[in-house]
Amino acid sequence: MGFEVAADAYDRFMGRYSRPLAEEFVRAAGVADGQRALDVGCGPGALTTVLVRELGVEAVCAVDPSESFVTAFAERFPAVDVRRGAAEALPYGDNTFDVAMAQLVVPFMADPVAGLREMARVTRPGGVVAACAWDHAGERTPLTAYWRAVERVAPGGAGEANIPGCRRGHLAELFAQAGFEDPVESELTIRVPLPTFEDWWEPMTNGTGPVGDHYARLDEEQRAALRAAAAELVPASNLEITGTTWCVLGRV
Ligand SMILES: C[S@@+](CC[C@H](N)C(=O)[O-])C[C@H]1O[C@@H](n2cnc3c(N)ncnc32)[C@H](O)[C@@H]1O
Repeated sequence: MGFEVAADAYDRFMGRYSRPLAEEFVRAAGVADGQRALDVGCGPGALTTVLVRELGVEAVCAVDPSESFVTAFAERFPAVDVRRGAAEALPYGDNTFDVAMAQLVVPFMADPVAGLREMARVTRPGGVVAACAWDHAGERTPLTAYWRAVERVAPGGAGEANIPGCRRGHLAELFAQAGFEDPVESELTIRVPLPTFEDWWEPMTNGTGPVGDHYARLDEEQRAALRAAAAELVPASNLEITGTTWCVLGRV
């Protein structure tokens, strides 16, 4: 999966959406002064930035399997305890945090149920495990026009609609399978203005995530056809890119 990329590439591709999303996610999770928080799948640190602002640098820890992201993260947040690791085997002890959060990460876990169980293990009884994931199946993401363009030029169901947590109810179902009673699902929506089509398109080609993996496999002719199809779906200028995630909270 394309997450061994430079932090700057990630920031341009997804960070510009995950930064405003983090504001909504932290609010939805009820993060409050005095808590200790874990950012699972922290990437270069979009969610951590908000957690550090709300809780202070001492109260936030982070973990991610991507070497390039952990390196960039450590430079950006030298005082935050960041470790390289996966959600399925968190390198933290039991009952360490008041809240464990995974922003746009569950879809990429090798075993999402095991990852959510681990998030529960490191969270104290009464604490909160929170996750959010784009509504790919509902075609409400900043990447939707890319996958629609793919479907136009090469029909056949490529895309992210079927990955875990990205359709209505599925993230909550994963929480239930991980042992959470009555997980609560809601929606979080962000809006990001972009000046031109090119500002939206260019980062799709920089190798990040499933979009980057898909684009990397195309030849020059296919890339040109895809770009032309996308340009028919997205305004040339003054774009407002919107995205909606499913957000689920589970009480430990
Ligand atoms: C879409 S990015 C989200 C990054 C960050 N949370 C944000 O909102 O910008 C997905 C992240 O999940 C990480 N990831 C992939 N598999 C993981 C796993 N099994 N456990 C934890 N993180 C994982 C990737 O390395 C990447 O940083």
